[in-house]
Amino acid sequence: MDRETHRSRGMTFFNRRLFPAAQEEWARWLEMAEQQPDNAQEAAAAANVLGCCFSENGRYNEALDYFSAASRHIRKLAEPDPALSLKVALNKSAALYMKGEADMALEELEIAESIWGRGEDALRARILLLRGAYALDRALYREALTLHSEALTIYQGMEDEAAAFVTRLNRSISLVKLGEFVEAEEELATCIAAFSEAQDFHHEAYALTELAHLKYLQGKPYRALDLCAKSIEIMLTESCILDRLEIANVCRILCLVFSSTGDKTRAEHYKSKAVEIYQSQKSPYLRERADLCNEEQAVAMQEADKRREGTEGRDFFQIELSLNYCEGALRIMELTEKMDSYTQGHCNRVMQYCTMLADLLELEQQARRELVFAARFHDIGQVAVPKRVLTKPGPLDPGEWEVVQQHPELGAELIRFAMPGSRAPDIVRAHHERFDGEGYPNKLSSEMISLPAHVLILADSYDAMTSDRFHRPAMSHSEACAVIASQKGKHFHPAVVDAFHSLQQI
Ligand SMILES: [Fe+2]
Ligand SMILES: [Fe+2]
Repeated sequence: MDRETHRSRGMTFFNRRLFPAAQEEWARWLEMAEQQPDNAQEAAAAANVLGCCFSENGRYNEALDYFSAASRHIRKLAEPDPALSLKVALNKSAALYMKGEADMALEELEIAESIWGRGEDALRARILLLRGAYALDRALYREALTLHSEALTIYQGMEDEAAAFVTRLNRSISLVKLGEFVEAEEELATCIAAFSEAQDFHHEAYALTELAHLKYLQGKPYRALDLCAKSIEIMLTESCILDRLEIANVCRILCLVFSSTGDKTRAEHYKSKAVEIYQSQKSPYLRERADLCNEEQAVAMQEADKRREGTEGRDFFQIELSLNYCEGALRIMELTEKMDSYTQGHCNRVMQYCTMLADLLELEQQARRELVFAARFHDIGQVAVPKRVLTKPGPLDPGEWEVVQQHPELGAELIRFAMPGSRAPDIVRAHHERFDGEGYPNKLSSEMISLPAHVLILADSYDAMTSDRFHRPAMSHSEACAVIASQKGKHFHPAVVDAFHSLQQI
C-alpha cells in the first residue's frame, strides 16, 4: 500500500474511533514518509495525526512525543507551513491541558496565536474556543464570554452546527455565572434540544447540569433537583465519557440545592464529595473550584417552587442511590488503574468498542444501556486482586490464578445496586466466559451468555491484546484481528466477530 492509502485508511479508522487500527496505518505512513528524502512536511503531518490519535485515547505522554516529533520535522523545512505549525501547537496545548499542565498549555496557545496570521477560520475558532475554555476554568467569565462569542460568530459563518452548539453551551456557562439568566436559559434550552436530537449525550448532560445551576440561582431548588436527576441519569446510562469531574459538578449543585431546602445532611454529603473530587484534580484551576462550594448563595426559595409530589414523575432518591454507588465505583476504579498503569483507560476504550458493536448489532436501547454500563465497570472486581499479582510479569501460580478468577463475580456484586433491576451485573459476571464454554468463572457457553455479554467479551479481549501489559508488549491491530478471526465460534460469538470485522471494511 502506498502512503496515501495508509493516510486515508487511518483517517477512516480514526473517525470510527478504532484507534489501534488508525495508529497502525498512520505509524506506517510516518515510517514511509520519513524514508523519503525532503519530505519533512508529510512526516510532520503524519506525526501530528498520530499524536491526535493518542490524545483522543487519553495517552497524553505518547501524544506529546509525537507532537514534538512533528515540530522537529517542521523545523527542517526551509519554509515552514504556518497552518501545520498552528495545528501542532493547538493539539499540543489541548494535550497538555488534559494532562493537567494548565500553564504550559496556555504558553503553547500563545505560541499558536503568534503563528496565526491569515490562518483558516476553523483554526482561529479553535484558538478562541480553547482560550475561552481555559478562561472559564480560571473563573474569568467576562473574558470567556467574549472569546466564546467570537468563536461562535466564526462557526456560524462556516455553518458548522455541531461546533456552534458546543460553543453556545460554553457561552451559557459564563452567562449563568454573570447573572444573565434570561439569555442563558434560552441558550441552554436550545442546546439541550439540539444535543438530545444529535444523541450527543455527553454535552446534553453537561447542559442539564448548567440549567440546574441556573434554576437554583433563581430560587427554584426543586426544579434544579429534577434537572440534576435527569443529568445524572443520562451520564450513567448513555454517555460513554464519564469522569469524576462531571460528578463533582453535579454534586456541587446538589450541595447548594439541599442547603436551600434545609436538608443539611445531604448538603454536607454532596459538598464533601465535590470538594474531595476537585482537590484530586491535576489542574490547579480545577482544584480551586472546591472553594466555590462555599460561596454561592441563591435568592430566597420561591413560593412557586414548593415540592410537588413526584415532580416530572422522577424519583430523585433512586437516582441518588445510583449516583452514590457509581461515584464510589469510579473511585475504586481509579485506584485499580493507578496500581496497574498499563490498564489505564482500558474500561473507557472497551466501552467505546462496545458502543460501536452494539450499534452494528442493532441491540435494543435497554440492552445497549446495560452493556455500556457494564463495560464501564467490568473490571472493578480487580480491586480485590493484590498489586503484586496484577502486575506480575510471568505466569501466575494456581493460588494467584484463583484470586484473579474471582474478579468477575465480585465486580457483579459491587455494581448490583448501582443500576438496580438491570442485567448489567450478569454482563460483568460473564466477561471472561467464552462461546465454547472454556472461560471462567462459570464455564457458560453460547446461548447461556447474553448477546451484550458476548460483545463485552470481544471488546475486552481486543483492548487487552492491543495494550501493553506487564507480561507482553501490545499486539498490532492486524495481529489482534487475526486472533479474533481464528477464535470465531471458539472464544467469541460468530455474530460479534462478523460485526467486528465489518468495522474494518473500507
Ligand atoms: Fe476482567
Ligand atoms: Fe477488562
